[in-house]
Amino acid sequence: MSDIKKKIDEASDTPPPPPPSANDYIAAAPRISVQAFCETEASAAAVRSAGDDRRLGKAHLTVKMGGMSAAVEAYHNAPTPNVILLESGGQADLLASLDDLASVCDPGSRVIVIGSEKDDVPYRELVRRGVNDYVVGPIEPLDIVRSICSLFSASETVMVGRVIAVVGAKGGVGASTIAHNVAWAIARNLKLDSVVIDLDLAFGTAGLDYNQDPMQTIANAVFQPERPDSAFLDRLLSKCTDHLSLLAAPATLDQVYDFGANAFDAIFDTLRLTTPCIVLDVPHQWTAWTRRALEGADDILIVAEPDLANLRNAKNMLNVLKASRPNDQLPLFCLNQVGMPKRPEIDRRSFAKTLESQPVAAIPFDSRLFGTAANNGQMIAELSANHRTSQMFLDIARKLTGHGEEGRSRGSLLAPLREMFTRRPKAESA
Ligand SMILES: Nc1ncnc2c1ncn2[C@@H]1O[C@H](COP(=O)(O)OP(=O)(O)O)[C@@H](O)[C@H]1O
Ligand SMILES: [Mg+2]
Repeated sequence: MSDIKKKIDEASDTPPPPPPSANDYIAAAPRISVQAFCETEASAAAVRSAGDDRRLGKAHLTVKMGGMSAAVEAYHNAPTPNVILLESGGQADLLASLDDLASVCDPGSRVIVIGSEKDDVPYRELVRRGVNDYVVGPIEPLDIVRSICSLFSASETVMVGRVIAVVGAKGGVGASTIAHNVAWAIARNLKLDSVVIDLDLAFGTAGLDYNQDPMQTIANAVFQPERPDSAFLDRLLSKCTDHLSLLAAPATLDQVYDFGANAFDAIFDTLRLTTPCIVLDVPHQWTAWTRRALEGADDILIVAEPDLANLRNAKNMLNVLKASRPNDQLPLFCLNQVGMPKRPEIDRRSFAKTLESQPVAAIPFDSRLFGTAANNGQMIAELSANHRTSQMFLDIARKLTGHGEEGRSRGSLLAPLREMFTRRPKAESA
């Protein structure tokens, strides 16, 4: 704790950088095989590190050296994988090598070329030779993750929903309240079909907050031995608004809720196939499965009250999540219950300095507003759509989903072309 205090005192006056936006969304790749043939150790290291990214968690990736010629050699007598990554190394006869490769390569395999500034080849020649994507080096791990994943998300007819996890730096800070209000805004204002999953199985309040009393809950899914399918999960959802459904917590104490790390994986994966946006209301616990829910999410929002314990916990959570998700945008954080009468608080600037990013919002303490909403089973925006706090929830919704924000993703050079060729009708959203 003294460390944190010291950091607050020592932090320089330079303003921390703004939080990155959520636009750079990359959907996880399915269970595929990927083989890379690199020319340089730096590229090989970047590809290996991409292989550790959560979005390639299901993919099987191997890295070899030797570039194009090693690939042609290898596939003379071995079957080709789903994806071949080739580093060109700026060689003069890139097209001839691709022709050689085509003669030994299964036509179903997709090819990504890691190019060099020295390459002097028109893109249409690459496309003509069946190259699916071209990434200019020097490459970062995320370039490779994005390129591989986009090969599948662009051609897939199933939807891959985005998971947003909301968690408190301490208990009782208002994480659930914020998760529910933000999800409501995502559904109502951004018109994204959304599901809130209340993961606080023993004490969760999502049912109360949305004024729902469902018979079926997430316990029906997590305690059943078979893998849940979409139809089964659909029956557990209760509809709150046009675009918002709830997978409620049982909030009963007749059993205990200890789970292994992977207990919820199948539920999340199945829901992602039909739901564009899944908001996880994660209880303030540090267990194998809460940690995994956070680490596996596309975006994370940490909610903190402005005091020292919250600051320390938020810093620790950020550090752990940063380390385990090196290629993801950093977790966002917001302050809640700011300006509680008579309470000494750590100000927003000190939070921003210590956490090295700005909060996405600082929501004022307002016991009447929040108390009324909670007791009525209503959202803040239902009580007062134009209230400053309702606007803050909408703003957080935009920042988390990337909807209504400036685009900033750095696509590969062939991405627009590929989109033209591979565009297919989108799956109907459920
Ligand atoms: N900004 C706020 N001002 C006043 N009360 C709030 C505010 N945010 C949340 N609350 C109240 O704080 C309590 C705890 O909220 P909850 O969302 O259950 O916290 P958590 O999920 O972090 O444990 C609830 O009674 C809620 O209505
Ligand atoms: Mg909660």
